Amino acid sequence: MALDLKSYPLPVARTVADLRAEVAVWRSQGVKVALIPTMGALHDGHLSLGRMARHHAERVVYSIFVNPKQFGPNEDFDRYPRTEPEDAAKLWKARADLLFAPSPREMYPEGFATAIQVSGVTEDLEGAFRPGFFGGVATVVSKLLLQCLPDFAFFGEKDYQQLLTVRRMVRDLDIPVAIMAGPTLREQDGLAMSSRNAYLTREERAVAGQLNVIMAETVKALEAGKEPAANLADSIARLKRLGFDAVDYFTLRDAETLAPLDHLDRPGRLLAAVRLGGTRLIDNMPVNYS
Ligand code: PAF
Repeated sequence: MALDLKSYPLPVARTVADLRAEVAVWRSQGVKVALIPTMGALHDGHLSLGRMARHHAERVVYSIFVNPKQFGPNEDFDRYPRTEPEDAAKLWKARADLLFAPSPREMYPEGFATAIQVSGVTEDLEGAFRPGFFGGVATVVSKLLLQCLPDFAFFGEKDYQQLLTVRRMVRDLDIPVAIMAGPTLREQDGLAMSSRNAYLTREERAVAGQLNVIMAETVKALEAGKEPAANLADSIARLKRLGFDAVDYFTLRDAETLAPLDHLDRPGRLLAAVRLGGTRLIDNMPVNYS
């Protein structure tokens, strides 16, 4: 049964002016504000960011905007789940203070002509497989931050490269906000929570749960001193045997710069992107060195 958004008394701002008016009242009360940018289809990973935010700020704003600029022409923009009434109900239950849910026209009015490009950390991995993705993310996130001007903005570590990109951008553009990271939340079998998991068929879902298992084993072997190249190649072969249709990357990187790491001689990050049918899954895990 479709939920009626009106039954949930969560305030919703549809325009930048309404968002700013609401935030101005809080500012006049001297309270701190946290923003959690999302594209909706909220799961516990998103809600856990709100719980974290409560430790830092008295007011928590979620934005929901399926940002057309971060989808390539053959990607899932049209079928990306749009579940605003259900999302509003979850946010209301989680005691969020405001939902900012602008229209595409509000975010990108006629004549919009600006793009934010972050180089370096965006150029490989997701940037190689999804040209235009990080430009779209940087553009919309910079807008959301400037529209709301929060004290804190929260992003999930699940999108690790995105997190580093936003941190770089905020530093480079002197946007006065503290970027905070929340840990990846996982399903019972360890699959990283993602709005895109909804695309998986039952059979694909069973296979998907193996990604984090192989990743965790790879991390253990790397931390035990196994040589990265052989270890990673072995894991990729195992993923293919398990039924993943393609492995876009499965790679050990410097945790800060994302430069390839041939030897584990500093903090690393194992990053993976795989395909199962029409669904692309990404995940990452820290790799400690001693
Ligand atoms: O991670 C997401 O959901 C999106 O990339 C973000 C940060 C909300 C920008 O559209």
